Order: sequence, then structure tokens, then C-alpha cells
Amino acid sequence: MMRFAISPAEGLLRVLTLIAGIQMAASSVAFAQTASQPKTTGQTAVHEGNPENGKKLFAAYYCWSCHGSMGRAGGTAPAIAPSTRTAEQLIQYIRKPARGMPAYTSKTITDQEVADIAAFLKSVPPGPAAKDIPLLNGLNQ
Ligand code: HEC
Repeated sequence: MMRFAISPAEGLLRVLTLIAGIQMAASSVAFAQTASQPKTTGQTAVHEGNPENGKKLFAAYYCWSCHGSMGRAGGTAPAIAPSTRTAEQLIQYIRKPARGMPAYTSKTITDQEVADIAAFLKSVPPGPAAKDIPLLNGLNQ
């Protein structure tokens, strides 16, 4: 006959306790992960924007597809560079843009990323004036 050091009922109880313990540990890890994620709402303080990173983000978030590769206009959207907008002003705009542009929420793009894009848009040199483009001058003659 088999002999148990503990009764089968007690054994079952121990297994259940162990499972409950593992679940609790797992959920506290999940909680820790949530807590360590950067806040996606209510961000106000942003660090000084990084123009190089902003240039990459301008490409990654497809701003270029409407505003042109350097933000100096291209297709349907107006030129947005060189820009005088501060990071805060750009954040405010792209969260609630005018009708022609899709809104970018803080879930899509963080305030800091927008600050980087703002720094990039400020760093873009102005394009050449129409009078300095030979082909355009040719059209006027
Ligand atoms: C699908 C096309 C599209 C994309 C993508 C897009 N925009 Fe726009 N954006 C527009 C259009 C169209 C307007 C003009 C809206 C209006 O005034 O009706 C605009 C306007 C703006 C303006 C204000 C222009 C002004 O001075 O009046 C800013 C700033 C701007 N966009 C920044 C961005 C940034 C930054 C991104 C990327 C994160 C972006 N846009 C992505 C289409 C787009």
C-alpha cells in the first residue's frame, strides 16, 4: 500500500497555494511593468528637443508624406519648416490638428518625440527663393 507523508487533500491544498503564489508573483511583475512605462497622458515637461532624432521621427511618423521630406511642403500639406513653433505649440497642434491632418495622440507619439520633431523643424534651413531657381526664372521669360 502507498504511504503519503501528507494526506492527498493536504497535498492538493499545497499545490493550489503554490499556483496562487505564482499568479500573484506574475501579476505583480505585470504591475511593475505598467508602473515603469513612461506616462502617455498629461505630459507637460519635455526636455530640449534633439533635431537629429526629430529628423528620424519626422520620417518614421510619415510627416514627410504630406509635408515634404524636409517639411518645406510637397503634396497637399503646407510647409512647416523652417519653423518658429516651440515644442509645446507643436504638441498642442498635432494632438488637435486642423481638419486636413490626422490627429496624433500621445499613444502614437510622445510629447518628447514631438519636441524632437519641433527641434528638427527649427533646424531646417529655408529653401531657395523662386528667383534663385533657374528653371522657374526660365518660365517667366
Ligand atoms: C495625411 C497627411 C498629413 C500627415 C501625415 C501630417 N500632416 Fe501635418 N498637416 C496636414 C495638412 C493637410 C495640414 C493643413 C491643415 C489645415 O490647415 O487644414 C497640416 C498642418 C500641419 C501643421 C500646421 C501648419 C500651419 O502652420 O498652419 C503642422 C505644424 C503640422 N501639420 C505638423 C505635422 C507633423 C509634425 C506631422 C508628423 C508627426 C504631420 N504634420 C503629419 C497633413 C498631414
